[in-house]
Amino acid sequence: MSELIVDGLTVRFAGLTALDAVDFAVPEGSVHAVIGPNGAGKSTCFNVLSGVYRATEGSVRFAGAELTALSPHKIAALGVARTFQNIALSSRQSVENNLMLGRHRLTRAGFASAGLRLPRARREDARHRGRVREIARFVGVSEYLDAPVGMLPYGVQKRVELARALAMEPSLLLLDEPVAGMNGDERRRMAEVIVAARADLGLSILLVEHDMGMVMKLADRVTVLDFGRRIADGTPDEVQRDPAVIRAYLGAAHTVDAGELAVTGETAADAARQKAEERA
Ligand SMILES: Nc1ncnc2c1ncn2[C@@H]1O[C@H](COP(=O)(O)OP(=O)(O)OP(=O)(O)O)[C@@H](O)[C@H]1O
Ligand SMILES: [Mg+2]
Repeated sequence: MSELIVDGLTVRFAGLTALDAVDFAVPEGSVHAVIGPNGAGKSTCFNVLSGVYRATEGSVRFAGAELTALSPHKIAALGVARTFQNIALSSRQSVENNLMLGRHRLTRAGFASAGLRLPRARREDARHRGRVREIARFVGVSEYLDAPVGMLPYGVQKRVELARALAMEPSLLLLDEPVAGMNGDERRRMAEVIVAARADLGLSILLVEHDMGMVMKLADRVTVLDFGRRIADGTPDEVQRDPAVIRAYLGAAHTVDAGELAVTGETAADAARQKAEERA
């Protein structure tokens, strides 16, 4: 029922095909990764799934609905929550307030009664704050609840963003590069939270990530995109050994500039190098 099914998804921008008839499915409760070199179409795919971009062709089905016809608001209401490649939080607001914003779609009392401080609105507010504290504990940011997000270390901000998505009580979580720019320790903590989100909350997770170690450790299946086309789909082990995947990443490793190497190209190049060594 709440399997995500992406079927023939195509997105064209003036003259550029960012996604070209892409298919994949994410069964309920599974972790599915979408990987590929820079510009492969991964974020475009997320933007269609969350209603930010319109599909040119194809369909995306989830929870009995056709998502390509819906607004971001309606998609969120179906239980699809996302994080962004670049942090999208209100940096001056406290962690708690950012998480409360995540609960907006679940708030019944509405602004009018909340403004009048009716007892029902107060009770509802207290209930939401209680749940927000639980979620903060779950992702390990309890100690920062009162701090403005902008003051926190990068790795903590990324966990707050995940917490904001969880605050929407989603059944499908879209994570766009959750560990990009993090150090080893921050990566490990984020990986633990993702594993727990799946195990304890039973969520389906769609993960875009350049860190191959993370992908291999977390994902049940992997879809590989290159220039908008699906070039492979399988278990982490299968796609790692796929010659088309290795070619795509080797090509990318040769064209990344020095600045990019530190963040993304290196992991891609490492994966390709490791593959080459295994073959030798
Ligand atoms: N709004 C847009 N208008 C025009 N072109 C776009 C738009 N969004 C994305 N693109 C183009 O679509 C292609 C795919 O971009 P996308 O951001 O989906 O790649 P990606 O796989 O997420 O890359 P990265 O790993 O660098 O994040 C790129 O060529 C990009 O320039
Ligand atoms: Mg991207």
